[in-house]
Amino acid sequence: MTQHLRKKLVNVAASPEDGPTSMPGSFYTDPQLFAWECNTVLHTGWYCLGRADEIPNEGDFFTQQLLNEPLLITRADNSVRVLSNACRHRGMPVAQGAGNARRHVCPYHAWAYGSDGKLLSAPRMKNTGFDLKACALPAFHSRVHNGFIYTSLSDVPDPFDVADLDALIAPYQPENFRHIHTATEMWNCNWKALVENFMEGYHLSVVHPETLHHYTPTGLSRKGPSGAGFTSYFANYPDSAAGRGTGAAGLSEKEKKRSTLFAVYPAQVVSIAATSLVSLSIFPLDVEHIEVRWTFSTYGKELEDGLLADRIAVWNEVNREDREKLETMQKALHSRHATGGPLASADYEGTVRDFQLWMAERSSQLA
Ligand code: FES
Ligand SMILES: [Fe+2]
Repeated sequence: MTQHLRKKLVNVAASPEDGPTSMPGSFYTDPQLFAWECNTVLHTGWYCLGRADEIPNEGDFFTQQLLNEPLLITRADNSVRVLSNACRHRGMPVAQGAGNARRHVCPYHAWAYGSDGKLLSAPRMKNTGFDLKACALPAFHSRVHNGFIYTSLSDVPDPFDVADLDALIAPYQPENFRHIHTATEMWNCNWKALVENFMEGYHLSVVHPETLHHYTPTGLSRKGPSGAGFTSYFANYPDSAAGRGTGAAGLSEKEKKRSTLFAVYPAQVVSIAATSLVSLSIFPLDVEHIEVRWTFSTYGKELEDGLLADRIAVWNEVNREDREKLETMQKALHSRHATGGPLASADYEGTVRDFQLWMAERSSQLA
């Protein structure tokens, strides 16, 4: 990592709890820092790719570019696999988009792979020494957790350390939510800016006056637990607002009257409530551009189709509002006066500090 940013991160992390500050603009604009992140935290971390029930049937698949790696996410033999989507012949992506296929036939020279990645046939490959079995698509480390598909690009991934988060969200039964909608967007901002934005309640009433303020006003935001691999906060609903439905049996009244927002580092941010689960997967493209793949899921049958469409429309608008702010801010972060300023207290921006502490810790380990 560039030395001055590393030093700054250590200083910011060491600042007293009642005097936190934000990082300077270069934290979000420096290409060298981004290169360091690609080789370290973004390489070894666990990414959410989507929901396991987006590919419920044998042969279902979708594709995703993650940094330098084209990925093919498939269901084979009833388990989710994250495979390299680069053909073992000369590197063409073997699949595009999403769908269902028993075989993936490379569009370049027609090598055909099964949905488990095994090479099934390679036309005209008669050379002695060619071994079909040695040309399977490599698999990345992956796991399904709380209904989310996670993967890491590294052969030696970071520990997946979210036990305290699991305890926090278990009453909502995240693994039982039904996938309804997926959208993919390109945003002109740094990946960390979206993590921080989604994870702080300070901006809610200002940026989302029509869409969120009446449900999750800034004043009712409360810091939640954090741990080695995650942070969280509660966006509480005022008494005047109706709950978000009944949801899973066993949810407390308190849990029904709030959304719990959490980040699984490095790049997944989520809002879970009784009947709605929204997850944004952030895929950095370069230091100032990201792809955002977000999913909407619901619990049970409580919400009718019309209501589901309304909720999705609101989230579309919320994301648009955040995106506009982040894209505008990204340009200003190049200013020599973007040196970082004081952060608000823990209930409003404590999650931003948690994220800094995580980055500082990782940077000291990976220096
Ligand atoms: S690159 Fe895939 S078959 Fe040639
Ligand atoms: Fe927002």
